Amino acid sequence: MIVHPQIQGCVARNCHPIGCRAAVAQQIASVRAAGSFNGPKRVLVLGASSGFGLASRIALAFGAGADTIGVSFERGPSDKGLGSAGWYNNIWFRQAAEQAGHIAINLIGDAFSDTMRQQVIETIRQQLGQVDLVIYSLASGIRVMPDGTQVRSVLKTTGQPFTGWGLDLEHDALVQQTLAAASPEEIRDTVTVMGGEDWQLWLQALQQADCLSKGVQAVAYSYIGPESTYPIYRDGTIGYAKEHLHATAETINLQLAELGGHAWVSVCKALVTKASAYIPVLPVYLGLLMGVMKERGVHEGCIEQMQRLFAGKMYGPQGVVADGNRLIRMDDRELDPAIQAAVSTLWSKVTPDNFHGLGDFAGLKRDFMQLNGFELPEVDYGAPVNESALAELVP
Ligand code: NAD
Ligand code: NA
Repeated sequence: MIVHPQIQGCVARNCHPIGCRAAVAQQIASVRAAGSFNGPKRVLVLGASSGFGLASRIALAFGAGADTIGVSFERGPSDKGLGSAGWYNNIWFRQAAEQAGHIAINLIGDAFSDTMRQQVIETIRQQLGQVDLVIYSLASGIRVMPDGTQVRSVLKTTGQPFTGWGLDLEHDALVQQTLAAASPEEIRDTVTVMGGEDWQLWLQALQQADCLSKGVQAVAYSYIGPESTYPIYRDGTIGYAKEHLHATAETINLQLAELGGHAWVSVCKALVTKASAYIPVLPVYLGLLMGVMKERGVHEGCIEQMQRLFAGKMYGPQGVVADGNRLIRMDDRELDPAIQAAVSTLWSKVTPDNFHGLGDFAGLKRDFMQLNGFELPEVDYGAPVNESALAELVP
């Protein structure tokens, strides 16, 4: 069959499996070009199949020669379609890592479940012995609690409702979006899903099972952003969840002390991912930011961010480089006052009629399409994909 992109709102309904392979290969090439570094050799990545988690895994396997276990929630081929981009990312990553002589194991299932914790513990014991780094990179709208109840996160503001331009990726248009003010229950539920509780459960279970090595590191990903985005992010439900995540880093840090280990939060820059495309209004800021950062030669994609995090700010010559609040600041370039001043000027001018000429919305759209295996220059999209061959691939 020939695969055409199906975009609905800001969600991709399908992927191009061969394009996903090209996208993974591009990230691997980028890491190889950046050169190797002396990083952790055994790594667990929770949320490994896309965005920051996938980029982390690629940076560590191909930059530091790490063996990895990746956990993700993805769909394989079925009568509903070819499956999700993350499904194929896992497979193409594993094939390339194995070819380079590294262990790469994909576990597919619900990372919030105790069943998955047990499966990971057994896999670590059998395959790696222990792990030296645990990466927490889950982004989810729902968490099934250990007792089976379902909790949903929402993307809302707090205080007063907030209205701004949002990006409709399906129609390449700007549309008015309003973030309603969340109720206290919605704030609490978002903290339950996207805060630090599950991260702590993971580290506790791994430590009790003796799966963490001496000097182990744990890192989770966060976002703060500039003041202009506070109503959307930091003062929104997700911001409350991230505050909780930051506080949890301190708790986990104390727990890891007996191993001489540490827990960190890396505050990353805004980037196009499946999760961020879904946040109201934020993609317009992102399109403008991308334009300004590219113009000044400081743009980074997911892979450049993660390569710089591990090679430069966690496992570089100075060890972990963090600010006074123990946050690793990968948003340093985004928050440069000169960059923010330029973005603010554009943001005050942007309208549905002129946005194509401001910032880099074409680049944002291309990044979004490439996350799903589309619009990669090296792929022949006129060629049919072999469904039965794809169906035989295993994670
Ligand atoms: P993403 O959607 O690309 O990746 C999310 C990952 O989580 C996927 O691998 C998915 O399979 C996995 N996942 C989701 N639910 C799961 C479940 N129940 N069980 C197992 N796996 C599950 O998102 P992303 O943007 O890479 O986000 C990762 C983290 O980075 C989040 O904490 C996010 O807040 C943070 N972050 C993102 C940005 C950004 O701009 N994208 C910036 C800073 C921080
Ligand atoms: Na991720």
